[in-house]
Amino acid sequence: MQQAQQEMLEWRNSGMSVMEMSHRGKHFSIIAEELESDLRSLMAVLKIIRCCFCKAVQTAQFSLIPQNILNGKTSACYIKTGAWSEKAIKDANSYCDVLVSASSEDTKFTSIPDASTWILDEQAAYLHYTSNETIHGVEFQEAPDAKGLTLVSDMSSNILSRKIDVSQYGLIYAGTQKNMGPAGVTVVIVRDDLMGHASKATPSVFNYAEQAKTNPC
Ligand SMILES: Cc1ncc(COP(=O)(O)O)c(C=O)c1O
Repeated sequence: MQQAQQEMLEWRNSGMSVMEMSHRGKHFSIIAEELESDLRSLMAVLKIIRCCFCKAVQTAQFSLIPQNILNGKTSACYIKTGAWSEKAIKDANSYCDVLVSASSEDTKFTSIPDASTWILDEQAAYLHYTSNETIHGVEFQEAPDAKGLTLVSDMSSNILSRKIDVSQYGLIYAGTQKNMGPAGVTVVIVRDDLMGHASKATPSVFNYAEQAKTNPC
């Protein structure tokens, strides 16, 4: 906060504050590149994985993920452990057949169903889970075994709180406002091979491959 305060009037002899500069200009590009490089080293993100900084609230990703990574498949598996995964399921339902592979609704979302009881569809495009259910307080302590499915996780409220092995995931997404910075941006970390298969109806601004080209500005 002190650094932000100091840079409020002028950022590194640029003659202007961050609030005044063009988000496509050379000064902001330096800030954005540093941001991506810091995130890459903090999370040990491999070169084959892209970081997108999407201009939208995190909730938008509930619809954007199926639009971007279904890649012709018609179903996706979801683990329901609280209010946020419930919302993710509701929105994904508009784009594909959602199989709720496991749910802890019967315990009023106070637990994670035993992995041996999960029903996974091997034809599904991905398996989605919420690593920390911010409202119900249920947190996965490690990445679940996706049994070969592409693993997708909403890490909004516990990203950067512990070391994770990014290579276990196809896609990780998180709103910046909880653990990383101010609201208004969502970080989407996507494996290369999942990029470039967005449905035709996906607007460019929400197409991960397009975003990665112009990122982070
Ligand atoms: C786990 C989780 N997912 C999604 C969201 C939604 O984020 P946003 O308000 O940016 O849409 C939140 C917000 O609290 C959250 O905690």
